[in-house]
Amino acid sequence: MTDKELIYHILQIEKLQKKKHSYNALKRYNKGEKVHKKQIAFHSSQKKNRWVFGGNRSGKTECGAVEAIWLARGTHPYRQNKKNTFGWVVSVSYEVQRDVAQSKILHYLNPEWIQDIVMQSGSKSFPANGIIDTIVIKNAFGGVSKIGFKSADQGREKFQGASLDFVWFDEEPPRDIYEECVMRVMDKQGDIFGTMTPLKGLSWVYEEIYLNKRQDPEIYYITMEWADNPFLDKAQIERLSKSLDEATLATRRYGRFMQNQGLVYGTFDENIHVIEPFDVPHEWYDKISIDPGLNNPLSAHFYAVDFDGRIYVVAEHYEKGKDIDYHANAILDIAKSLNWHFSPSGHLEALIDSAANQRTLAGSKSVSQLFYEKGIAVNTNVKKDLFSGISRVKDYFSARPPRIFIFKNCVNMIRELKSYWWGKGDTPLKKDDHAMDDLRYYIMTNPQNSYREEKPLRVHQKYREKLIRKKRLGI
Ligand SMILES: Nc1ncnc2c1ncn2[C@@H]1O[C@H](COP(=O)(O)OP(=O)(O)OP(=O)(O)O)[C@@H](O)[C@H]1O
Ligand SMILES: [Mg+2]
Repeated sequence: MTDKELIYHILQIEKLQKKKHSYNALKRYNKGEKVHKKQIAFHSSQKKNRWVFGGNRSGKTECGAVEAIWLARGTHPYRQNKKNTFGWVVSVSYEVQRDVAQSKILHYLNPEWIQDIVMQSGSKSFPANGIIDTIVIKNAFGGVSKIGFKSADQGREKFQGASLDFVWFDEEPPRDIYEECVMRVMDKQGDIFGTMTPLKGLSWVYEEIYLNKRQDPEIYYITMEWADNPFLDKAQIERLSKSLDEATLATRRYGRFMQNQGLVYGTFDENIHVIEPFDVPHEWYDKISIDPGLNNPLSAHFYAVDFDGRIYVVAEHYEKGKDIDYHANAILDIAKSLNWHFSPSGHLEALIDSAANQRTLAGSKSVSQLFYEKGIAVNTNVKKDLFSGISRVKDYFSARPPRIFIFKNCVNMIRELKSYWWGKGDTPLKKDDHAMDDLRYYIMTNPQNSYREEKPLRVHQKYREKLIRKKRLGI
């Protein structure tokens, strides 16, 4: 046998296997060793308006496709079957239809059951490659049923007129299309079912279906997550679960409706609060604030405050995986380059999270002690209360003109501000919050220019300050 012949032979076998697969796919659905129990629960519910709220890959589309085929074939194992049904499969776009719902329907549809296919685009000989409009299916009563494919992005008008036995939504439809479809199934007392991951947050589906605020007795829903799908690889579930943050997991794995409360500092505006660095008058220099981390980044910022109490974040040290010696040196270097003030004993002074008083794993000394030995006297007496801290910081950002400015070189603080999201239970997601913590500790010290308290501002200083602000910030 030549190579060419061999390849041809293999291809033929593969083709045959594939064909055999789709001849038997429906027969094998949840009949083998592995059974998706939640899919069975969904199929056996007798309600007229059924939904699956599931994570991605939890097995939603699979059960929607099988449900649609059973209704079309008149072979539903858990329901009174109807003759010659007409149903719609609604996807979010034609492309998604081709790749997802249509492809699953073709997978479970034995080719012998297909009487005809009407294409929307593409060739009838290769329906999987094109967009199907309608599949005409031979049903168990000797007649034919029809499954029509619809795309929600075509608008509500395209959904008018028909009288239907069922509508399947694969992924969340817009409300107007859902409502139009409810009208379509009314006279035949047909079924609505939807399979979706709640990626749109607390949308109309949350109100109408999940909360069922009208207490419609025909509404049913079931949730599915990765662990419910026995066809997923356990090791992969484990790996993915570790790599995703809490909020992502809540929707993507568990299919939960999440309130999207947005950014903690939503009033932070890069165009307003981030400024080009300039030489800050020495009298404005105030405090350094540190959020310690060893494996996590250690975040340290240098804060200045003008005579009106406006804050300037002028420099940043932010690195992970380094020891205290390294961090102390880096902070001292920045201090020297800025000509920062040192205490009479020659120490640099800084605020630090009170956790720094605990001993480090490696030795008998605490982080505070290690810093002190390297020339940085840290003050662990910081206010750590999250809520009052956040609300105080928020005030600084929302004030107009702003009461806080961040120098462009503090890139990590800027990045964290842009990605500091609310999570569950009114607390921010604990992900990237190191600079957010040192900022909070600092602002909770009620920054004001202490120089001003000691010595009343001289006229020329006042004038100089005004000039700087006018020139640099236009305020
Ligand atoms: N009953 C089943 N029998 C065999 N395989 C199944 C079954 N249910 C789910 N699977 C497999 O699990 C995987 C995910 O299923 P499915 O595509 O239905 O998930 P989904 O929740 O719709 O995912 P997505 O959010 O990506 O749309 C697929 O590989 C599918 O073949
Ligand atoms: Mg799907």
